[in-house]
Amino acid sequence: MKDVKVFLSEKDIKEKVAELGKQISEDYRGSDKNLLVISILKGSVIFLSDLIRNIDVDLSIDFMVISSYGRSTTSKGNVKIIKDLDINISNYDLLIVEDILDSGYTLSKLLEILKVRKPKSLKICTLLDKPDRRVVNVDLDYCGFTVPDEFIVGYGLDYDEKYRNLPYIGILEP
Ligand code: IMP
Ligand code: MG
Repeated sequence: MKDVKVFLSEKDIKEKVAELGKQISEDYRGSDKNLLVISILKGSVIFLSDLIRNIDVDLSIDFMVISSYGRSTTSKGNVKIIKDLDINISNYDLLIVEDILDSGYTLSKLLEILKVRKPKSLKICTLLDKPDRRVVNVDLDYCGFTVPDEFIVGYGLDYDEKYRNLPYIGILEP
């Protein structure tokens, strides 16, 4: 393992996830709401599992797999669906849960694809935002933390499929 510098501790993350869950619960409370939380595998799976346990309204979950970085640490504009949703989203208030917004290619492309299927509503929740790297604009509805232009690992985020199991969020030393 390369050196990882702690950037956000377990406690920082826990507090923020509780805050986000509370906000989302308030926003989606009511019998007219039908919340479907969509997780983009694999990076957001740890965040999703903690987040939904902090949401106290009825919800369903589903998963998508989008083509990712592989070994490279820089983004490509080429985004592909590897695994699509199982659920027909037309009756749902969709909340996309992502680990990190970087160039914006992944989320903007995903929004394009999902909007065509006409969900009742569509919002985005990302744990991390790296605004310095943005190429395509994406409006976030919920965001945990802003991070510097460094390579981030842990709490679901990987480098070459490793480090996802770190309980904290760290910066990978070059
Ligand atoms: P974007 O399409 O450039 O916004 O990239 C989004 C995806 O790239 C995220 O869902 C992550 O999987 C991955 N990614 C971007 N930055 C990082 C990082 O610093 N560490 C780990 N993965 C990252
Ligand atoms: Mg990802």
